[in-house]
Amino acid sequence: MIGADGGGNGGVIVMASPEWYEVSYTINPWMRPDEWGRDRDGARQRAQAQWDALADRLRRAGMTVEVVPAAPGLPDLVFPANSAVVLDRRALLARFRRPERRGEEACFLRFFEDLRRRGLIDHVQRMPDGIFQEGAGDCLWDSSRGLFWGAHGPRSAPESLDHIAGFFDAPVVGLELITDRFYHLDTCFSVLSGGEIVYFPPALSRESREAVAERVPPEQRIVATEDEAHAFSLNAICLGHDLIMTPPPPRLRAMLEERGYRCIGIDLSSFVLSGGASFCMTLRLDHTGGRLTADAGGPSAERIGS
Ligand code: ARG
Repeated sequence: MIGADGGGNGGVIVMASPEWYEVSYTINPWMRPDEWGRDRDGARQRAQAQWDALADRLRRAGMTVEVVPAAPGLPDLVFPANSAVVLDRRALLARFRRPERRGEEACFLRFFEDLRRRGLIDHVQRMPDGIFQEGAGDCLWDSSRGLFWGAHGPRSAPESLDHIAGFFDAPVVGLELITDRFYHLDTCFSVLSGGEIVYFPPALSRESREAVAERVPPEQRIVATEDEAHAFSLNAICLGHDLIMTPPPPRLRAMLEERGYRCIGIDLSSFVLSGGASFCMTLRLDHTGGRLTADAGGPSAERIGS
């Protein structure tokens, strides 16, 4: 195990206040403004209660939760996984593809500058203007392998990958997302603390599936079914052996538990209505291991498929 970020104790994680959360537009196939609108007050209350349950569970696991203030008119701010890629106390801030979310960039910039002033982060930089990249939602740190799995597709641009590799001095394996339904990598791909990858292969191009197979031995590949991916079971937070996630379907739960993981199910249906669940609702600030693990050859972005 190369990285030291497997466990929950003492870690720091970001959530964003759900105060202005709602489902009012459709920028991915999961979003259901009609369903949200049927009972706005009830929907708001349920979302707040679900958000509280997730925050409580993370605190009980020993995490410190840093909360981004809400902003009116920016309902998807509640998904800070999209705000930045963070490793070794360095943060590379996102550039959102969809105009509906671009207003979030200024809020997240203020928030990260504040983290820097408070000594929680050392370095904050924005992705260059015009290069779309939607944060950790499309770029997952794999501490066992010392690399990022970096996606391009509906939201993030292929050019973002070299930039990530350079900024963090860490290898980035490019994965192409080929469907609109799995529009962010964290909807179809999950990295567990023991090095297993849980994923839904049809969301990736053929070359990208090969890139996974080249780096992850068969016994570490856990292939999810379409139903399991649709249940948002791959959008999980892995803290050591605990998986904090929407309640997984029985087959997947059994597979994970057989490997020693404990599935802690939390109903996040109010956020699935917007196309997100536990992973998207958070951002780890405590991942480490990039510079320590980069090969002698320096950073490399291996872009697969385009
Ligand atoms: N409605 C949001 C969007 O489409 C959901 C984002 C969920 N975040 C994630 N990392 N998958 O942008």
